[in-house]
Amino acid sequence: MIAICAVCASFLLLPLTIIFYKLWWTRLHFQSIMESQGIKGPSYNFFHGNIKDIIKIENQTNSNVPIYLPDHDVFPRLQPHWYSWMKLYEKYLSTKMVYPKTEREGHLKKLLGDGIVVAEGEKWLKLRKLANHAFHGECLKDMVPAMVASVRTMLEKWRSYEGKEIEVCGDFRILSSEVISRTAFGSSYVEGIKIFDMLGKLFALVSKNAYKMKFLGLVKFVRTKDDREADKIEQLLHESIMEIVRKRQDEVITGRPDSFGSDFLGSLLKAHHEGGEKNQMSAAEIIDECKTFYFAGQLTTYSLLWTVLLLAIHTDWQEKARNEVLQLFGRENPNSEAIARMKTVNMIIHETLRLYSPVTLITRRTQGKVMLGRFKFPANFELVIPPLALHRNPDIWGPDAHLFKPERFAEGLAKATKGNPMAFLAFGSGPRTCVGLNFASYEVKIALSMILQRYKFTLSPNYVHSPFLALTVQPQHGAQILLQPL
Ligand code: HEM
Repeated sequence: MIAICAVCASFLLLPLTIIFYKLWWTRLHFQSIMESQGIKGPSYNFFHGNIKDIIKIENQTNSNVPIYLPDHDVFPRLQPHWYSWMKLYEKYLSTKMVYPKTEREGHLKKLLGDGIVVAEGEKWLKLRKLANHAFHGECLKDMVPAMVASVRTMLEKWRSYEGKEIEVCGDFRILSSEVISRTAFGSSYVEGIKIFDMLGKLFALVSKNAYKMKFLGLVKFVRTKDDREADKIEQLLHESIMEIVRKRQDEVITGRPDSFGSDFLGSLLKAHHEGGEKNQMSAAEIIDECKTFYFAGQLTTYSLLWTVLLLAIHTDWQEKARNEVLQLFGRENPNSEAIARMKTVNMIIHETLRLYSPVTLITRRTQGKVMLGRFKFPANFELVIPPLALHRNPDIWGPDAHLFKPERFAEGLAKATKGNPMAFLAFGSGPRTCVGLNFASYEVKIALSMILQRYKFTLSPNYVHSPFLALTVQPQHGAQILLQPL
């Protein structure tokens, strides 16, 4: 009897000790290491950490009031807790970023799986090589006609809005979904619609649960309604992706094409069937990669959206961009050679991404003990960088950091950042830089060029400048512009 009680007690004691160690000792230990070096932060509370503080600060911030244009000082409103902590404490900037990623948990993990965004070491290298190949060089050039065709379809719909107001959020979302479906997966938006729909639902669950407290060890046993919903969506998502995968495999088996195809899905399947010991892709890895790229492909929505909105406000820059487009392409469709020569449009896109970076948090953890500048960090310490704050640092960008001034990029990124390229993190930095950078840049340049060739646009009086954060920065009440055919 005594032996049984002792076993029961040790069963209870062990998880409690782990919880206590992880949720209290480690964090206070980290805090004291940082404080001893002069880095202060909000005090840590047992169990909920700083979540209560975050919720309190968010509740005190009125994010419904419109911002007066042309000010783009959105950081205090979108990430108010980071803003107030950075005001109270200090900000630090490193010159390199080669730390491992932090682990993703909960619904975010269902969204990204164990794919390239979270993978490390050999697995990451294998996935990165494959993605690099599919989204660069000749492969990228071959995607231009599909991108042009997708934009043309959107613009055909726009014809019935000429001289009127049009809300562009939905159209840009469909466009970016169509482009990634066609170029990477050889299918259309309509075929991928179930996948986008489920990714959207998972995305909503991630946003909703971002600041909910989860108790270590209990997550697997205590399932909330949202957890169950997320499990269900994940299952359906996997089935829908497998449908697209099977369709491609069947085509090869029944002898229609003689290879799996040169697009991203084709490379994944080739690696699955012919990858050999080192580059073999498992079925689970294929699903995770498909999820990741279907999801990441939609990030261009927000880049294009904010570029168009900013040009609708700053019509002088819209005119400069149009002149460049007409000089390079005339009324013809954009082509890859001329895209590479775009300068003004490039500056505009950089400035848009500086002010409205779609990725609003970049997280890393220290692998071992490391020095960062003059500070020592312990192993497994989580580092969080909010690009929206970095992109508004007046020491780098000057007192007009909140204003739209593409001319700051006229002499390149190094000059714009005063020799500190880490101050611009829209696409990340180092080996984990966005693998879709060139793809996204092509897509936005093609869409913008084709719009500028056909239309002048201004903000509609119905547009309310009230950006809000739902993992990326979005307009709260839609993006309404007035279209004037040229
Ligand atoms: C304007 C649009 C985009 C922006 C602003 C953007 C931004 C970023 C950023 C900041 C990172 C680094 C995150 C980190 O270091 O933790 C990243 C990584 C990544 N992006 Fe993008 N992205 C965009 C479009 C795309 C597109 C279209 C794709 C796919 C075709 C894509 C695929 C990825 C992938 C797979 C990674 C992870 C790379 C790795 O860890 O090796 N992104 N992106």
